[in-house]
Amino acid sequence: MHETILVSGATGTVGTELIEALSSENVRVRAGVHSIIKGDRFRVFPNVDLVEIDFARPETLRVAYTGVTRVFQITPFVENQVEIEKQLVDMAKEVGVKQIVKLSASGADAEPGIQMGRWHHQGEQYLQNSGIPFTILRPTSFMQNFITYEGASILQEGKIYQPLGTGKVSYIDANDIAAVAQVVLTQPNYYGRILDISGPEAISVEEVAAILSRVSGRTITYVDVPEEAARQAMSSHHMPEWMINAMLELNQTLKAGYGANVTNTVAQITGRPARTFTEFAQNNAHCFIPE
Ligand SMILES: NC(=O)c1ccc[n+]([C@@H]2O[C@H](COP(=O)([O-])OP(=O)(O)OC[C@H]3O[C@@H](n4cnc5c(N)ncnc54)[C@H](OP(=O)(O)O)[C@@H]3O)[C@@H](O)[C@H]2O)c1
Repeated sequence: MHETILVSGATGTVGTELIEALSSENVRVRAGVHSIIKGDRFRVFPNVDLVEIDFARPETLRVAYTGVTRVFQITPFVENQVEIEKQLVDMAKEVGVKQIVKLSASGADAEPGIQMGRWHHQGEQYLQNSGIPFTILRPTSFMQNFITYEGASILQEGKIYQPLGTGKVSYIDANDIAAVAQVVLTQPNYYGRILDISGPEAISVEEVAAILSRVSGRTITYVDVPEEAARQAMSSHHMPEWMINAMLELNQTLKAGYGANVTNTVAQITGRPARTFTEFAQNNAHCFIPE
């Protein structure tokens, strides 16, 4: 039977990389997009179809899931994440999906853990108990966060504001997560596996700033902000209280060194080494150099 792989959250950081990776496979791909306009960029791939998914409108799920054989399940960081994940797994079960690969997060099973991890763990457990063959990916923090969240201050001021002290993190390139996902979705050996995925080295934000300076030819410095200042900055951007608390909790664990674990998963599964931060910076140099 021909495989049809659905990717939810397809226009996000990992989804975008995964759709591109799957465009070279002999499968049909459904890019599950919140907004059809944002999915326009996928129309260049002949094996990719766009399908609307709005988690707030469950009726969109049935159309998106009908005829699908495998799902790459990406959910955003929202307060009802667990509820959404349950809905997605239930729909997959109803239409007879034969594998769900869930994008989770590093440390999801830590005790007592942090809010982000606990929500992912609940989603993992629901999936594991569903009877649908599953694979769980638990990546560390994405290198792309330095574009998504720090890109503006890097471009405008040459500064990275974070409350991470000297904490080292084994940042992963989202492109490598997609490369692992591509293998896991197209080869049968990964059912029931939980894969911890990291970059090749743990580095501090100070080291990140040094790499970005080298690659961009600019001076980019790290400003280690006190937690209270980080709270105020997020508050001034109208971030909800629950999200601010969850972000600060995450940052405390990273500052304490809990994000530094390095795994060999990318190399083991894809046959090529995980990208270094320098390679990431070189590939995305335009994001760090003002026009
Ligand atoms: N960032 C990290 O460092 C990190 C590390 C480990 C794990 N994770 C996990 O990775 C996941 C996020 O992945 P990502 O960073 O690739 O995603 P992302 O860039 O945050 O994108 C989220 C995607 O979900 C879509 N979306 C948002 N609301 C939706 C709705 N109501 N209905 C349907 N789609 C909706 C978005 O579309 P629109 O933009 O059009 O709304 C977008 O395509 C989270 O579960 C997070 O916990 C992240």
